[in-house]
Amino acid sequence: MINIRIEKTATPKTLPSQDNPLNFGTIFTDHMFIMNYDPQNGWNDARVVPYEKICLEPSSMVFHYGQEMFEGLKAYKTGDERILLFRPEKNAQRANNTNKRLCIPEIPVEDFVEAVKTLVKTDEKWVPTKEGTSLYIRPFIIATDPFLGVRPSDTYMFIIILSPVGAYYPEGLNPVRIWIEDEYVRAVKGGIGETKTGGNYVASMKSQVKAHDAGYSQVLWLDGVHRKYIEEVGAMNIFFKINGEVVTPALSGSILPGVTRDTVLELCKAWGVPASEKRISIDEIYEAYENGTLEEVFGTGTAAVISPVGELKWGDKTLIVNDGKIGDFSRKFYDTVTGIQLGNIKDEFGWTVEV
Ligand code: COI
Repeated sequence: MINIRIEKTATPKTLPSQDNPLNFGTIFTDHMFIMNYDPQNGWNDARVVPYEKICLEPSSMVFHYGQEMFEGLKAYKTGDERILLFRPEKNAQRANNTNKRLCIPEIPVEDFVEAVKTLVKTDEKWVPTKEGTSLYIRPFIIATDPFLGVRPSDTYMFIIILSPVGAYYPEGLNPVRIWIEDEYVRAVKGGIGETKTGGNYVASMKSQVKAHDAGYSQVLWLDGVHRKYIEEVGAMNIFFKINGEVVTPALSGSILPGVTRDTVLELCKAWGVPASEKRISIDEIYEAYENGTLEEVFGTGTAAVISPVGELKWGDKTLIVNDGKIGDFSRKFYDTVTGIQLGNIKDEFGWTVEV
């Protein structure tokens, strides 16, 4: 079991006011977690310290070859003042899948979860309580060898920072408009598309800018080979409700295995809602739209939670989904997932973990 030293700040910051909209990822708490890795000692020197700048050699490998990974999860305050995490071991397991692919040393799942719990406990007064808010947790690992050759680093830092957040999209629960990208691709099977690493996100930025300039919130990626099968959206997985059935692209090797994605599939099972993970082409979606069976579209993600999609733009075609309004299913998933996370709905699945 990990042994974590705690050094508290002597100069705590002022907490954001209740009126602050907590724009995603802009405010950081008083403390951060750090742990180092070197081949002699393995992961060592686990500590919670005041949030501050970190000092790195400009030659640190992370800056040159992008050997880094990150995760995202949230802490929630319940009505009776408990703090809950949602399926944190899933993030720890996914972190290790990313680590394996990127030649980063793995972290035992229980140590990852303990680090998250200890940091959140230290900064517990930062967990916001207003509806739609939570404490976003961002664990990440960076390669720190001062070296310019291309190989895996020998040394690393594992850091966790915390940020009180509101909705990821300014739209909140109002449906977002999505641009289907047909010029650039994000990832291909065998690459790093299913890992959580900065490279996947920088690959998305050119299209993201293009979509934003055209008035859209996010990009929906098609597969990199055929350019026709649906993959995922910039910051979330994607679901469609077609003729009463919930469908989402199967994890093909280039799609991120989202925790909220898995949660929605588990809920469908529990509710007896027909749901499937399969290869879905954009032509099938268009056909469903044309024949009136495309009932709802929504994205899932830790940051995005459940985000209804009101419009899909595909070349010269504009698909308005459910009259641009939030659908009943999207609403039910949102209410159930957030209800369990906030302790308002009984957690029959054992998904929540108290800090
Ligand atoms: C998350 O949902 O936690 C993510 O990591 C998406 C992020 C790119 C904002």
